[in-house]
Amino acid sequence: MKILGIETSCDETAAAVVEAGVVCSNVVQGQVEVHAVYGGVVPELASRAHIQNISAVVTAALQRANVAAEALDGIAVTVGPGLIGGLLVGLSVAKGMAMALEVPLIGIHHMEGHLMSPFLQDPAQPAPLCAFPFVALLVSGGHTMLLHAEAFGRYHLLGQTRDDAAGEAFDKGARLLGLPYPGGPAIAALAQGGNPQAFRFPRARLERDRFDFSFSGLKTALRTHVLNHPLAPEDSQGRRDVAASYQEALVDVLADKALAACRAAGCQRLLVAGGVGANQRLRALLAERAGAVALFAPPVSLCTDNGAMIALAGANRLALGQRSDRSLNVRSRWPLADLRS
Ligand code: KG4
Ligand code: ZN
Repeated sequence: MKILGIETSCDETAAAVVEAGVVCSNVVQGQVEVHAVYGGVVPELASRAHIQNISAVVTAALQRANVAAEALDGIAVTVGPGLIGGLLVGLSVAKGMAMALEVPLIGIHHMEGHLMSPFLQDPAQPAPLCAFPFVALLVSGGHTMLLHAEAFGRYHLLGQTRDDAAGEAFDKGARLLGLPYPGGPAIAALAQGGNPQAFRFPRARLERDRFDFSFSGLKTALRTHVLNHPLAPEDSQGRRDVAASYQEALVDVLADKALAACRAAGCQRLLVAGGVGANQRLRALLAERAGAVALFAPPVSLCTDNGAMIALAGANRLALGQRSDRSLNVRSRWPLADLRS
């Protein structure tokens, strides 16, 4: 089955064609320059940029895959969670195409897309393929979740953030340090050559719900630190040390809880995906502490938002006989958000 996947939930306009798990094309048009001046994503500007870009992105995805629209077997689209205006752009295009081409349409939860990313085969960047069951650490700008995935569609939520998402903590931390948006790559770059032990920023362990996360205290600690120890622009080593110490506090907790969740679930596979999953220090810490747990982290281009992961989740659902009808609309809730195991 050749499936077109469309993803417009945040600030990437993305479309891809996937056939039997193989990425035939993967086109992502970012909007960093639109939002950079505001230090974060401005929803209305994101919607407008999606409208401007979506046709060219879908056309490029079909062309690069060398697939005519008429040859598609289905269309998968992100229906949430995300910014509503952006979601509506992708949904409208997907619905219109599915109706015109008379092919099935399937609405996909954005996080199920991330869950599917280690099952994608990109011939340009071969990586070991994941298998069920696994524990997933999904860390993006909007989510921080630990899930136990038993099989496709059977997911148990082990923990999630109580306040900021990990990516948000990177983005807000970057603002406090005067770094540009998106903050994750900016902090990671500044942290190189910094001493991660220079300052001890707090790690929220949360005794009761031990797989939940909290990053608001860490953010406040950085703010207090910067106010009490103003950083001179010429003190590049000092700036690197603060960035490295802040990053370390963030990824230390992520790595620790993800591996503890694997042990608690008796699971030997750990997937890390979502934008923060691209963080090299997080990957290094996980590798260092993994022991017998096999680590699966998709290539960076499949870790951050993309249409290929949506296409693959769609292919799996279509193969199970599921279809969305014309009433398909945006959804904001993760269906398993309240389930704890
Ligand atoms: O998954 P994603 O592309 O979009 C959402 O679904 O939110 O994640 C974006 C987030 C941003 O907060 C960004 O700062 C963060 O991922 N990010 C990183 C890195 N690359 C992107 N955080 C830490 N290190 C990175 N290398
Ligand atoms: Zn995402």
